[in-house]
Amino acid sequence: MDARPEGFDLLVAVFKKRTGIDLSAYKERQMIRRLTSYLRRVDAPSFAVLASRIARDDAALQHLKDYITINVSEFFRNPDRYEALEREILPALFQEFGTLRIWSAGCSIGAEPYSLSILLEELDPKTPHRILATDVDVKALEVAKAGIYNEDKLKEVSSQRLRRFFTREEADKWRVAPEIKRRVRFQVHDLLKDPYPVGQHLILCRNVVIYFVDEAKEEVFRKLAEALVEGGYLMIGSTESIFRPERYGLQAVGSFVYRKMKKGGVLGVARDRAFSPSSAGRFEAGGRSFVGAGREAF
Ligand SMILES: C[S@@+](CC[C@H](N)C(=O)[O-])C[C@H]1O[C@@H](n2cnc3c(N)ncnc32)[C@H](O)[C@@H]1O
Repeated sequence: MDARPEGFDLLVAVFKKRTGIDLSAYKERQMIRRLTSYLRRVDAPSFAVLASRIARDDAALQHLKDYITINVSEFFRNPDRYEALEREILPALFQEFGTLRIWSAGCSIGAEPYSLSILLEELDPKTPHRILATDVDVKALEVAKAGIYNEDKLKEVSSQRLRRFFTREEADKWRVAPEIKRRVRFQVHDLLKDPYPVGQHLILCRNVVIYFVDEAKEEVFRKLAEALVEGGYLMIGSTESIFRPERYGLQAVGSFVYRKMKKGGVLGVARDRAFSPSSAGRFEAGGRSFVGAGREAF
């Protein structure tokens, strides 16, 4: 039975030619459903029109690629970002704050929070740092909680880390070690409508806001900044940027990294604890509540 709508094959062919990604390797019905809703979203009247757009317009091509790979994640994605965390950001935060509250917002299948947890296990295993990992996609969170991954998600994991922090389940499936899982807590959370946790020392929100309109993006960045303690860090995706970050009390301190300024706009001078436990807050999400900071880790 050929249920493919007109122009679909052309779109798949053009997409493959320009990106190397073979959409025919994806479940066809799901892909057609997803791309049909994409047509509406970008106001394209047919697959053929979309195909001709992506044939000549790089931005349209990138947009479609991002849409198709919306849940895509892997361990140590963009390894240079994890090197910055390992070498600079985490050591600075340990020194200033001791025990850390970290939030991986839009964590997808869990590769990002588990990669962070591996860094914590290597750098400071005895301190009870905590990682809150949230996503709007319940199915992705189920995968995350199971903690079992195909080899293709582990391309950036060194053989040493693979031996130490994973056990082989089947031929090409690996299970994350319990000591890596234990400091990560998964939670359904919609960045566009749920209340944000507070008192975070480090937030990773990478490759999540790319589909949001500018207004929503700005609102998310404002709330992420509010969720940080003064002196805390926000890392965003490697294709993203925050326009005029000082509007949110943030200062760009590296590639795709921002730091929340202390009152008066000064950073890196005062080494006093920027966060007082008495400013702990509570937030509710999905009928559950968290103590956001200070008194107990979430
Ligand atoms: C491309 S993945 C990024 C995963 C990970 N941060 C990384 O960079 O590897 C984007 C994730 O954002 C999630 N997402 C999209 N809209 C969201 C929202 N409104 N609130 C929370 N998460 C959202 C998606 O479900 C998806 O899992």
